Amino acid sequence: MTWGIKLILLLAVLIRTILTDPDNWISEPLSVFFSVGEEVVLRCDSDLIESDRVVWYRRTPEGDNVFLDTKYPQVNLAQDLDGRINATATRSFLALSNLSLMDTGEYWCGVFYEGVCVSVTKTLLLVWDPFGINSTFYRVYSSLMACALLGMVCVLITVNLKTRRRDQASLKTRWTAAQTQRRSRVEEEREEVDEEEKEANDEERVKKQKGTLR
Ligand SMILES: *[C@@H]1O[C@H](CO)[C@@H](O)[C@H](O)[C@H]1NC(C)=O
Ligand SMILES: *[C@@H]1O[C@H](CO)[C@@H](O)[C@H](O)[C@H]1NC(C)=O
Repeated sequence: MTWGIKLILLLAVLIRTILTDPDNWISEPLSVFFSVGEEVVLRCDSDLIESDRVVWYRRTPEGDNVFLDTKYPQVNLAQDLDGRINATATRSFLALSNLSLMDTGEYWCGVFYEGVCVSVTKTLLLVWDPFGINSTFYRVYSSLMACALLGMVCVLITVNLKTRRRDQASLKTRWTAAQTQRRSRVEEEREEVDEEEKEANDEERVKKQKGTLR
């Protein structure tokens, strides 16, 4: 990936983080991406002690079940995980290998101390599909698009307001121009009328004067 794309992705993630509720963001489960055939390591509690009982539960297309329980390690509840599961010695992590699409789902690690659940860690196991609906790319892209849409809407509204204001302004100037034109025309007409009247008066006066002279 080039630096430009990395920067854009980072920005998008930052924006998404800012836009989303901080509480939601903190409690959001871990997301682990895999490609078919790969191995992933699921994280449990890192502060486990020997007497802790660790129970792994999953919700996948294979089913909803407990697939590992350290209290009953011999009980293998999930055949599809046979030979693909590897709990590390510390039990804080669990490795799943040769992953398939059927392993997509939610995984919980519950830690029990003397029968009391002391911690739960949830992990989302997702297929790495650059253009799929569950991919980081899609999420970043969608949040980016949401931001872009927001920006576009803002721009549209601003432009709209501006043009409307300009339209109103031009209407106003046109109206005032028409008014002044009309007013000047009326004045001109009035002046013409006045002049005609004056002329008429003058003529009459001249006629009268001529009449008196006769
Ligand atoms: C399980 O993991 C340990 C250490 O990560 C490794 O040494 C061991 O070979 C693995 N076992 C299997 C069956 O993959
Ligand atoms: C991985 O799983 C596929 C079926 O999903 C199986 O055919 C293949 O043999 C497995 N590979 C290993 C190394 O276990």
